[in-house]
Amino acid sequence: MLKVICVCGARPNFMKIAPLMDAFARTGKVKAVLVHTGQHYDERMSQLFFRDLGIPEPDINLEVGSGSHASQTAEIIRRFEPVVIENRPDWVIVVGDVNSTIACAIVAVKLGVKVAHVEAGLRSFDRGMPEEINRLLTDSISDMLLVSEPSGVENLRKEGVDDSKIHFVGNVMIDTLMKNRQRANESKILTDLGLTPKKYAVVTLHRPSNVDDARTLGSILDAFEQIAKDMAIVFPMHPRTRKNMANMGLGQRVGSIAGFQTPEPLGYLDFLKLMADSAMVLTDSGGIQEETTILGVPCLTLRENTERPVTITEGTNRLCKPESASIMQAYREQLARGGASAKRPELWDGKAAERIAAIFAAIA
Ligand code: UD1
Repeated sequence: MLKVICVCGARPNFMKIAPLMDAFARTGKVKAVLVHTGQHYDERMSQLFFRDLGIPEPDINLEVGSGSHASQTAEIIRRFEPVVIENRPDWVIVVGDVNSTIACAIVAVKLGVKVAHVEAGLRSFDRGMPEEINRLLTDSISDMLLVSEPSGVENLRKEGVDDSKIHFVGNVMIDTLMKNRQRANESKILTDLGLTPKKYAVVTLHRPSNVDDARTLGSILDAFEQIAKDMAIVFPMHPRTRKNMANMGLGQRVGSIAGFQTPEPLGYLDFLKLMADSAMVLTDSGGIQEETTILGVPCLTLRENTERPVTITEGTNRLCKPESASIMQAYREQLARGGASAKRPELWDGKAAERIAAIFAAIA
């Protein structure tokens, strides 16, 4: 039996780890130990996803909590090391691009344990983005690079990674979406929030580049104010965004926009339903760019770059500067375009985790 430690830490990791745990169990040849670093710890940022997605309780929770990048990363490193020493896994599997990803990869590699990175090779080519640093560093020390879209393969080759380490397997996040689409349909979230299908927009924002600077955030809000005259807006607010808004004194302004609501972060099934029935999604998230492509919903990404270019070339995504005039122009064009023309990116077929499990089963 091959022994692997699967690491998850922050909200976008949970939908990636769920199908992997499932697929490993089905091989009968891979024993997967689940470690939660505790990077995200709020009920609505963590436990809710375990329940919605039926992820087994983590075997170990490192309970690191929040902190600056350095102290959070360091604390994960410090707490994960004894776990690897005690469990002696053959592999450590990390997903995505959060601080938990690089922290656990570095612990494993220094203990001589092999590292596999799920969602390898993605590049925004913007080193001002903390996730880009996590992606570059994690890939450079990983022994197996499991890639979700063709650009990832190209990027890794250009960086000189040997082909033998690269496996184009598809997108595990889309496995989770496909598996839960039907269940999400039963969610009552539209009724709860008083929304009519296709008559509202969904917003999510949490990136430092958008929500840490009062001028940028103010300009984004100018656009939302105009859009709210057209259609309702639902903005389930990430805790760091809510905190920033309060500190910048923007809370009252947001509260006074008619047709604009900011519920607490939603669970997976409610959020999937909310996206699927929306007229448009405006976001700075990575994963949502991918999910809207599969749902055929127009997506406007309030960023100057994306590490997921297939969502633009094949999907429903479009980038725009996080500034009110650019947002309004792109919003109108995206509305007119709709989402129908989207193609499904190669291997986004619900079987990525199965492919990954098969690779490990073959070396077991
Ligand atoms: C992290 C990831 C980001 C991902 C995002 C999804 C990194 C570098 N960033 O950003 O790539 O898109 O998760 O949400 O790993 N907080 C809470 N409760 C929680 C978690 C966070 O209140 O359960 C607040 C804390 O004030 C904390 C802040 O949010 O300081 C930031 O959390 P952190 O995990 O450091 O980064 P995110 O912004 O969530």
